[in-house]
Amino acid sequence: MGVSTNLRGSRATSTTQEGLPVSDGSQSSSTQVSIFKMKWSNFLPIFVALVVIAEIAFLGRLDMAKNADLVDSWADSFFYKSAVSVDMVENDDLGLETGSMDKTDRTPESDSCEKWLEKEDAVVYSRDFDKDPIMVTGAEKEWNTCGVGCQFGFNPSKNPDAGFGSPQQGGAASVLRSMESASYYAENNIAHARRWARDLLFLHHWTLFLPWHVMLRFMVWGYNVVMTTSLSSDVPVGYFSWAEYDIMAPVQPKTEKALAAAFISNCGARNFRLQALDELERSKINIDSYGNCHRNHDGRVDKVETLKRYKFSLAFENSNEEDYVTEKFFQSLVAGTIPVVVGAPNIQDFAPARNSILHIKEIEDVDSIAKTMKYLGENPDAYNQSLRWKYEGPSDSFKALIDMAAVHSSCRLCIHLATMIREKEENSPGFKRRPCRCTRDSETVYHLYVRERGRFEMESIFLRSGNLTVNALEAEVLKKFKSLKHVPIWKQERPESIRGGNDFKVYRVYPVGMTQRQALYTYRLNSSDDLKNHLEVNPCPKFEVIFV
Ligand SMILES: *[C@@H]1O[C@H](CO)[C@@H](O)[C@H](O)[C@H]1NC(C)=O
Ligand SMILES: *[C@@H]1O[C@H](CO)[C@@H](O)[C@H](O)[C@H]1NC(C)=O
Ligand SMILES: *[C@@H]1O[C@H](CO)[C@@H](O)[C@H](O)[C@H]1NC(C)=O
Repeated sequence: MGVSTNLRGSRATSTTQEGLPVSDGSQSSSTQVSIFKMKWSNFLPIFVALVVIAEIAFLGRLDMAKNADLVDSWADSFFYKSAVSVDMVENDDLGLETGSMDKTDRTPESDSCEKWLEKEDAVVYSRDFDKDPIMVTGAEKEWNTCGVGCQFGFNPSKNPDAGFGSPQQGGAASVLRSMESASYYAENNIAHARRWARDLLFLHHWTLFLPWHVMLRFMVWGYNVVMTTSLSSDVPVGYFSWAEYDIMAPVQPKTEKALAAAFISNCGARNFRLQALDELERSKINIDSYGNCHRNHDGRVDKVETLKRYKFSLAFENSNEEDYVTEKFFQSLVAGTIPVVVGAPNIQDFAPARNSILHIKEIEDVDSIAKTMKYLGENPDAYNQSLRWKYEGPSDSFKALIDMAAVHSSCRLCIHLATMIREKEENSPGFKRRPCRCTRDSETVYHLYVRERGRFEMESIFLRSGNLTVNALEAEVLKKFKSLKHVPIWKQERPESIRGGNDFKVYRVYPVGMTQRQALYTYRLNSSDDLKNHLEVNPCPKFEVIFV
């Protein structure tokens, strides 16, 4: 724990690529807690034990009650529910197959089910975000347009919806925003900071390293919204974007004798990157080192321009943490050199194509990676294959990941907050009940809502019970957006060579409220049964779509 305290002290005042100050607001709070530190630290073991016991009791109650209300904090109410939603079900006791809507005589025979649903189902929300935008204090405006009314800064005449740091006044949501690695700033390691207690209970590996004063902070104040490099955070803030990195820049001739270049300057990293550097040198890989560690070249050079001349770049992060992928990696892609990575265990999720990067997962891998480097170094055709994506474009999965950053994280925060506010209103008792399906001539029509990732407003689509398949869902989504002459949100951001003309296709459809990790990598509607089940449990479900 002493170590973490030291590291906090030595924090560099760096700036993110978006120009955000790193870890906003946390400094002042950590000063606050340090006042308690002297007195409290002696009681830490007892304190932890008490917390665990309390948590066990709490979870026990939860299990029995199976009641979302117990954990219904401002934030939790929003998250995608896999349990039965109360939204419409009570209104629908007659059941799915009875066609209750027919019997009500509220459907004029002349109207199709679709028209009727669209009319009946139109919802008026109490807050119009155009007139009354989302207000976030404690940061400057840094983007141009946003899919929802969104204001940053200070406005004395308005109650803010959120602010950076914790706690916030007057019911505003508290936001943690940081791009640091959790190995150094343990508080970021909390995929959902507000779930700290559950994680603590199961003693996830990181909790063992959590400084007690950070733990105390979460317990006393907590955060409503977490923005870190983790794709499991509420609003991920990555190092990547099309605007920041000219990822499709052309490949240059590899003119250097040495196989690889390294820019490693913090020689005391917490992972095995220095060891890996040693081992690679021992395996007779020729490395030009421009950083402080093992320096054999003058470091005062343009990094990307220099990398372009090498076949390989040692993209060694200072910690091996999921989704923690920094400029080291993306600059290598810009330079058209093959990144040899020590870092995120899921780095392949960030690869522009299959076989385009090398990953040293553990120190034992160095031997075989060194062999591969030598082989590729001596076989130009094989080497060129690894850079094929530079000529043919990156994979859909890479595009889908990088496209996320086409919308500034501040705007994505506003969309997240506005979505939570609407969700809360919909779940409130006074909210208008609405039909979400309509049955006629033994066919049921379902009403669904879809929006593009990065935008706020929803479009209606309809599915028929005779054709409730995942393919039909995707086809309807595409049909709807094509009919609206929709322009995908990444259109202006992507390099021209990979914008793909006027065409686009569906890459993923997932329920609103899912994390990007779920949306991109784990969630999948596998079958029509999945879809039917989802429609029954979530009347008028809201989906988000990623186009590529
Ligand atoms: C690498 O492959 C691309 C096509 O995939 C080709 O245009 C280019 O000339 C090749 N470069 C070398 C050095 O072989
Ligand atoms: C199901 O819906 C899709 C998309 O709307 C459509 O292309 C397909 O023809 C439909 N199939 C049937 C059997 O109606
Ligand atoms: C789809 O299948 C995958 C793997 O079989 C599973 O992990 C996932 O939960 C399934 N999706 C749904 C919505 O059931």
